[in-house]
Amino acid sequence: MGINLKGRSLLTLKDYSKDEILFLLDLADTLKKEKLNGVYKKRMQNKNVALIFEKPSTRTRCAFTVACADEGAHPEFLGVSDIQLGHKESVADTARVLGRMFDIIEFRGFSQKTCEDLAKYSKVPVINGLTDDDHPTQALADLMTIREQKGALSGIKVVFAGDGRNNVANALMIACCKVGINFVIASPQALFPDKTLYELCKAYAKESGGSVNLESDIEKAVLGADVIYTDVWVSMGEEAKSAERMEMLKPYQVNENIMSIAGEDAIFLHCLPAVKGNEVTEGVFESSRSFVFDEAENRMHTIKAVMVAVI
Ligand code: CP
Ligand code: NVA
Repeated sequence: MGINLKGRSLLTLKDYSKDEILFLLDLADTLKKEKLNGVYKKRMQNKNVALIFEKPSTRTRCAFTVACADEGAHPEFLGVSDIQLGHKESVADTARVLGRMFDIIEFRGFSQKTCEDLAKYSKVPVINGLTDDDHPTQALADLMTIREQKGALSGIKVVFAGDGRNNVANALMIACCKVGINFVIASPQALFPDKTLYELCKAYAKESGGSVNLESDIEKAVLGADVIYTDVWVSMGEEAKSAERMEMLKPYQVNENIMSIAGEDAIFLHCLPAVKGNEVTEGVFESSRSFVFDEAENRMHTIKAVMVAVI
């Protein structure tokens, strides 16, 4: 039986099988090729997509907007001060209203529970555009970029260095473990991922033939890596922890030394936005081993694939 994702939400990649993830990546590759050839099939004609943003965004917002335009849909941006969500109106009520008017709802915000409630009450597919806990559309773009650059996913070694318990680390760990990647988090023990999530990912890795490990020695972690990945040390909403994080994460900077230990074939990825001089040096970021702008572009192709698949 072929894969059919019609009507599905994407709240986390925990809910998606390996085959469903690969299906989305294959679709994203096709959509990317089509766009490069000037082919626009308008698969979302007469559809409307609500874009709720409680937190700021460049890539995610633009990816949804451009993907909608390419496929003939109408995107409606709803900033936190534009709507009543959670202030004057309950999430359940807002969800039921939006569900009567829109075909898809994207949500970027703080709480994963809000994202889940939007899906529960709206009855239309909800796509998680980042919460405090997860960033599944980012992880899809990451896998797409890794496959483009490395020609495979299974057996590839990916190391995430930095805040090992943030949304991007969580999403990447889930995604990598589902598809058979050997995934390592290099971070101080205090920033290792949540134990329950880690155990769950271990089970995914066992099933897919991948692996997942936690390592507080970054130089040890990056040996033989194919991909070195990092993210900001202080995520949106955690600004009060800035000074403490700088201190804790200084030894986990991705710099020229780390890239040379990793080996000459290792590439560099970052979800962006980047704070150069903190989690990555300007030199690594601008080097020929950095594919961060392919990765950013792939946000659009993968988000488009998710919308086309679920609508
Ligand atoms: N990577 C990412 O989600 O970027 P934005 O915050 O700009 O959307
Ligand atoms: N971890 C970062 C990701 C930004 C795309 C944050 O939540 O701010």
